[in-house]
Amino acid sequence: MARILLLGSTGFLGRGVGHKILDAGHQMRVLVRDPLKAAAFKVRGAQVVVGDALNQQAVTQAAQGVEHIISLVAVRRNRPQSYLAVNVDGPRILGQAAQAAGVRSVVFVSAIGAKLDPHFKYFTSRWMGEQELAKTGVTGTILRFSLIIGEDGGIVKDFEKTLFGPFAIIPGSGQSQIQPILRDDAARCIVEAVAKPELLGKIIELGGPEVVTYETIFDWFLQARRLKKTKLKLPAAVLTPGAIALEAVMKDPPVTPDEIKMAETPNLAAGIDSVSSQFGWRPSAPGAWAPSHWSKRA
Ligand SMILES: NC(=O)c1ccc[n+]([C@@H]2O[C@H](COP(=O)([O-])OP(=O)(O)OC[C@H]3O[C@@H](n4cnc5c(N)ncnc54)[C@H](OP(=O)(O)O)[C@@H]3O)[C@@H](O)[C@H]2O)c1
Repeated sequence: MARILLLGSTGFLGRGVGHKILDAGHQMRVLVRDPLKAAAFKVRGAQVVVGDALNQQAVTQAAQGVEHIISLVAVRRNRPQSYLAVNVDGPRILGQAAQAAGVRSVVFVSAIGAKLDPHFKYFTSRWMGEQELAKTGVTGTILRFSLIIGEDGGIVKDFEKTLFGPFAIIPGSGQSQIQPILRDDAARCIVEAVAKPELLGKIIELGGPEVVTYETIFDWFLQARRLKKTKLKLPAAVLTPGAIALEAVMKDPPVTPDEIKMAETPNLAAGIDSVSSQFGWRPSAPGAWAPSHWSKRA
C-alpha cells in the first residue's frame, strides 16, 4: 500500500484513476478546486484537500506525507485557463512542490504528439511542461497517451458537438491514425507505473491494441447510438476561418483552429504492444467495447 496524492482527479481520466488507486488498496489524497466533484472518492475513504494545482504552497502542503504524486492536470484549450499557466507552469510547480515535500516519485500524464513545433500550440505546451518538470530534478515517469475513451466525456462529448440535424461534421479527412485506449486500461497503467522504478526517468508512449482512423471511431459512436447521419468531411482550409471566428466570439466553440490541425496528425504510441511490453498485460480492444458502452447517453 502506498500513500498517493492525485492531481486532476475530477476530470475525465481522473475519475478512472482515482477509483483505480482506491481499488488497489492505496491511501489517496486528492487536491481539488471543487470538493463536491470529489464526493465519490471521499465516501470511499480518500482525503479531500481543497486548493489549486497552480498554487505552489497548496501543492506543497497537499504533498506532505505522501510517497508519490500522480498528475493529470492539463488543459486542451488555451482558455479560460492558459496553456502557459496550466500546461507549462503547472508541471514546474508540481516538480518543485514534490521536491520540497520530499516525495519519492511523480507520475506525470502527458499526450502523444508533445513536441516543440510552433504550428501546434497545444503539443508545444505539453512538451514545454515535460521539460519544466524535468528541470526541477524530480524523480518521475512521464506517460504520454493516445486517445483515451470512456463511457462519458472525452471524445464522446466532442462527437456530440459535431451533430447538426441530419449531418455529422468530421474535421478534415477523418483518416488520421489513432490508437485508442480504454480509460480503465489507461488508469491501470498510471497506477501501476507508481510501483515501477524501472520506468523512472523515462517518457513512455501508450495506446490500445488497434490502430484505427478518426472516422472509424466516429462510426463506432454513430452505430452505438443508432444515429443515421450524413457525414460531412470539411477540409481544414474550409473549417479553419470559421473556427477562428467562433473562437473569437464563443466561450466554448465546437472546435478550435489548433484542434483542426491536430485532427490531421497521427496519434500513435510506440508500438501496437506498448502496454504489454511495459506492463505485461494486454489492454482491451475499444472496437469491441464501444457498441455496448456508447449505446446510451451518460
Ligand atoms: N482524454 C484523452 O483522450 C487524453 C489523451 C491523452 C492524454 N490525456 C491526458 O490526460 C490528462 C487528463 O485529461 P482529461 O481528459 O481527464 O482532462 P480533463 O477532463 O479536462 O481533466 C483535467 C483535470 O485537471 C484539473 N485542473 C485543471 N486546471 C486545474 C487547476 N488550476 N487546479 C486544479 N486542478 C485543475 C481539472 O479540475 P476541475 O475539475 O477543477 O476543472 C480536472 O480534474 C491530461 O494530461 C491529458 O493531456 C488525455
